[in-house]
Amino acid sequence: MTTMLSVRDLTISFRTDEGTITPVQNVSFELDAGRTLGLVGESGSGKSVSTKALMRLLPGTATIAPGAAMHYRTKSGKQVEIEGLRAGGRELRRLRGGEIGMIFQEPMASFSPVYSIGNQMMEAFRLHRGIRGRAARELAIEMLDKVRISNPAARLDQYSHEMSGGMRQRAMIALALSAGPNLLIADEPTTALDVTIQAQVLELMQGLQDELGMAMIFITHDLGVIAQIADDVAVMYLGTIIEKGPAREVIRAPLHPYTVGLLEAIPSLDRLDARLKPVPGDIPSPNQRPSGCPFHTRCGQAMAGLCDQRMPAETTPSTGRSVRCWLHAEEGRHAA
Ligand SMILES: Nc1ncnc2c1ncn2[C@@H]1O[C@H](COP(=O)(O)OP(=O)(O)OP(=O)(O)O)[C@@H](O)[C@H]1O
Ligand SMILES: [Mg+2]
Repeated sequence: MTTMLSVRDLTISFRTDEGTITPVQNVSFELDAGRTLGLVGESGSGKSVSTKALMRLLPGTATIAPGAAMHYRTKSGKQVEIEGLRAGGRELRRLRGGEIGMIFQEPMASFSPVYSIGNQMMEAFRLHRGIRGRAARELAIEMLDKVRISNPAARLDQYSHEMSGGMRQRAMIALALSAGPNLLIADEPTTALDVTIQAQVLELMQGLQDELGMAMIFITHDLGVIAQIADDVAVMYLGTIIEKGPAREVIRAPLHPYTVGLLEAIPSLDRLDARLKPVPGDIPSPNQRPSGCPFHTRCGQAMAGLCDQRMPAETTPSTGRSVRCWLHAEEGRHAA
């Protein structure tokens, strides 16, 4: 398989009134063509910020630390380094939308309030696929129909604020797919939807992915959704990927105590009366990131003098899996 995206050592800081915070630290992952990577972690763990960097959508207050590399292979097979692309240049415009599409966590952010849904889709066709006029209109209707929006020809002339939440979410998927991306970043595309619609949208996205052969980064809080949609999973905690590997294996046999906690927090059908067990303790704020392993303040197995002092390196306990935890490092096992 060919690697389509390789992110190495991505560290992102923001200047804020309270000083500098670093909500993303040394994030590395790879994604092969046509595959789905699930990115999971509690609120504030840095999921949205790290993927916005891939689209170069971070605000001016953000800095990416030197040493990071984000290599992306375009549809035509060209390797580009995303940070190296000139701001406002043609390559960056082509990257956004045409190569990498994004479904944002805030649905309204995707749409312009002054153009109809159809107008925006047709603009994406023109810009990224050279399709115009009547052909563009027909394709837009077809796309809306694909995401199961009823009466698509009439909906084309509507504005995003005229749609219900579920419909807007589906229109957003149609809009992101209009440019024909190679990679789709879906940031919690189903969180705001009720469970039945959520299942439908997931199914729909998987169908479209198979049909269009694109890769996907799927962001969610929910490991249940990951089990359904992802090939691989990366678990983030306070800006760091603490575990990654094939989704099924990670869910079946998690290695990091945080992943174990997340999985225990999922209510299961055979013990519906059992109480949900959230991971104990609160997430520290990013400007009070704990020393050592960031999870040690909430970890039942933390080893004093080690976990609170030093960040464990990534270790590879078996092929395809990796974890950052002293319990799984040579040195930590001696200490335990
Ligand atoms: N523009 C910004 N300026 C300062 N801090 C920011 C900015 N954007 C995000 N952050 C901070 O970075 C951290 C990570 O934010 P991010 O939105 O990536 O979290 P997330 O994992 O997507 O969470 P959620 O699940 O709630 O969407 C948060 O603490 C957030 O407050
Ligand atoms: Mg987010």
